[in-house]
Amino acid sequence: MSFLYVLKRRIQRNLPKPLQRKLQEAIYFALYRLSPARHQNFFNSGFSPAEAPWTELAPFDREPLQSTLYDKVLWEFTRELAGNGGGEWGDILDIGCGLGGGVQVAHHRFPQARITGVDVNSSAVSVCRKRLQHIPSIRILQGNARDLPLADGSFDMVFSVGAASYVGMDAFMKEATRVLRPGGVLSFSVGYTDKAFADQRKIVDELCEKNGLDVHKVVDITENVFAAIAEDVPRRRELIERVPWPFRDYASDWADMPGTMRYQEYVDGRRLDYAVCCVKR
Ligand SMILES: C[S@@+](CC[C@H](N)C(=O)[O-])C[C@H]1O[C@@H](n2cnc3c(N)ncnc32)[C@H](O)[C@@H]1O
Repeated sequence: MSFLYVLKRRIQRNLPKPLQRKLQEAIYFALYRLSPARHQNFFNSGFSPAEAPWTELAPFDREPLQSTLYDKVLWEFTRELAGNGGGEWGDILDIGCGLGGGVQVAHHRFPQARITGVDVNSSAVSVCRKRLQHIPSIRILQGNARDLPLADGSFDMVFSVGAASYVGMDAFMKEATRVLRPGGVLSFSVGYTDKAFADQRKIVDELCEKNGLDVHKVVDITENVFAAIAEDVPRRRELIERVPWPFRDYASDWADMPGTMRYQEYVDGRRLDYAVCCVKR
């Protein structure tokens, strides 16, 4: 593990929860503003095998594994629920939209929908706004998923990739449910270390019950996510080579490269990624 990464973990561990979150947000700010990753469309681990159309269609073909993960969450896992199989959603929200790749996947799948992306990070928001300003049905807001700047019952579908663990599942599901209309769908992916799928399934069931949601699907996607990380090593290596050298090892840790703690967690079977799809009563 890189010296900077160890230092960051040590500092973070000794901070109270709200400050831990602030530090995490500051790191995302720097990543989106300064690292070569800001030229990408996604900041997630991906899902293998990558599927068409993402393997062929620009700009997704540069990050087909990452596009596929979004597509699983917002299209494949929800398909049976959308107006009798593949219907249209009017208003869609991506929580933790990052660099805007997921919003673009949603626009491709649901071209008629009004799509909102929200992220706590102002640097992500400015990248997204610039990139997507030519699409009038897309708006990008800066806001915290723990207190979304959005009205109750204003979305037909809320989706999210890789943000729920930063927000905290409890707050994430409470706020996501609040902004959904009755009958609306919440679909997201999340990852943890040293958690068993059966226990997480129970937590999801309890949170759904508490928030008035019916569970549609909870899917263990760990194998596909790890396969994507392994397959994506050459692309990530190229990005890391463009990082100024004092931060290169740190970037390797962030990118879950072979030899890092996170990569080893996957090898040792200690990592769990899963997707949840549920419906508001
Ligand atoms: C792993 S990245 C995923 C980004 C994007 N969903 C993707 O897959 O490319 C997590 C994202 O969640 C955002 N995030 C973290 N905490 C948040 C919060 N409390 N409210 C809104 N967004 C948050 C981060 O700024 C970051 O963009």
